[in-house]
Amino acid sequence: TKVLSVASECVPLMKTGGLADVVGALPAALAGQGVEMRVLVPGYPKVMAALGKAKAVMTWDDLFGGPASLRAGKLGDGVLYTLDAPHLFDREGGPYNDATGADWPDNPQRFAALSLAGARVAAEGIKGWSPDVIHCHDWQAGLAPLYLREKGAGDRVASVITIHNIAFQGMAPGDMVGTLGLPPGEFTQDGYEFWGDISALKAGLVYADKITTVSPTYAAEIMTPDYGVGMDGLLQARQADVVGILNGIDGEAWSPPFTKPSGKAKHRAALRREFDLPDWDGPVCVVVSRLTEQKGLDLLLMALPALLDNGGQLVLLGTGEPGLEAAYRDFAAQHPGVAVTIGYDEDLAHRMIVGGDAILVPSRFEPCGLTQLYGLHHGTLPVVALTGGLADTVINASPAGLAAGAATGIQFNPVTAQALAQALMKLVNLYHDQPTWTQMMKNAMAAPVDWGHSAAKYAALYAGMVKAG
Ligand code: ADP
Ligand code: GLC
Repeated sequence: TKVLSVASECVPLMKTGGLADVVGALPAALAGQGVEMRVLVPGYPKVMAALGKAKAVMTWDDLFGGPASLRAGKLGDGVLYTLDAPHLFDREGGPYNDATGADWPDNPQRFAALSLAGARVAAEGIKGWSPDVIHCHDWQAGLAPLYLREKGAGDRVASVITIHNIAFQGMAPGDMVGTLGLPPGEFTQDGYEFWGDISALKAGLVYADKITTVSPTYAAEIMTPDYGVGMDGLLQARQADVVGILNGIDGEAWSPPFTKPSGKAKHRAALRREFDLPDWDGPVCVVVSRLTEQKGLDLLLMALPALLDNGGQLVLLGTGEPGLEAAYRDFAAQHPGVAVTIGYDEDLAHRMIVGGDAILVPSRFEPCGLTQLYGLHHGTLPVVALTGGLADTVINASPAGLAAGAATGIQFNPVTAQALAQALMKLVNLYHDQPTWTQMMKNAMAAPVDWGHSAAKYAALYAGMVKAG
């Protein structure tokens, strides 16, 4: 099966979160499954620089306000298409925000352009390569299935959209229907209209043939009002076409430097030295995360005394909301046993996950989550909220889980500071029960976190979608 994957992020070229890891990992993971996946991303400055002198394989005289071209390059062993549109993407800052954190005002045009380019590649093919399926990621590619249909190619090329986070919906004012070249007749409640606005995500959910999300539990959650962010009714109506497929991790980038639980000790010692942690007898906990409402780290601030009073320690790495950054900095300044790094640092993230005893992920919602998977793989036991992919990937140290010798971490519920504090106390107790702790580390390190299983599911999904003609 030939698949064009359309996304706003892709490692190693541009990353703000797990989306980039997943988009970057899928082509290689799928290559062994009979799928040829090519990836299309926007031509941000870093992407254009990495691409070198790639030649144009498709051009536009005017793509939402300026000339544009599609350039073909390499991504690992596969093909990467880049949308070179300087008026939309050649600017310093993040993929979605300027340096102050404000959304780029022309985000509707920028990602409509990405989606339109994807639809055109799908409809026309490039130099004899015509995808059977266009795979759209999140709202940034959400308009592609609609554009594909407008091009009259929707009955030839199949489309699937993956929801990595339903909280971001790509809204644009309703008066932009003409600007974005969308069909006015579909600007209705049954189409891509959402409370008077254009919703790029909704367009994807309405017009794509299939909908996936990144864990089975999140797939069920988003069909409820509590998690659906207004899309729950639509998803319920389409539930026969919705499937949850767990993310995997890049086994090369995240390969543990030890194979037995005892191998962790020297990395743990190095981490404690690096952050000058006091000599307490308790678990060294780590957090690697965006600091946003989603991640529940405000709850951790309240629960931390329970950990610290019992000998536990915390090493946190993250960036995000200024208020949370400041709160963590202050907390670290006042508490020995807490080390905080505000920033984005992949090498440090590795050292923390390799050396830590436990990784904390107290998210209010979590479509899949990758850091708990890195943790499992390194015997760094996850303490997670019972939600989304966190519910699906961790086996709780409940009496039954422990009795069966299967537990890999701790899950807590409801997602409150109090329940988290209790989970941290439980962690400390388990830590002092050496045989149980070692068994849990073994279980965690043996947990299937690679792409194997999930890649097979995507491959089967694509194969089943291919349209005749
Ligand atoms: P989300 O995509 O919601 O942020 P995930 O757990 O799916 O959550 O993915 C987050 C990814 O970003 C992981 O690869 C994680 O290691 C990485 N990451 C997050 N914050 C940082 C940071 N401050 N430094 C380095 N890597 C980070
Ligand atoms: C989103 C989600 C995260 C998921 C990632 C990759 O950023 O917040 O849970 O792991 O996408 O699918």
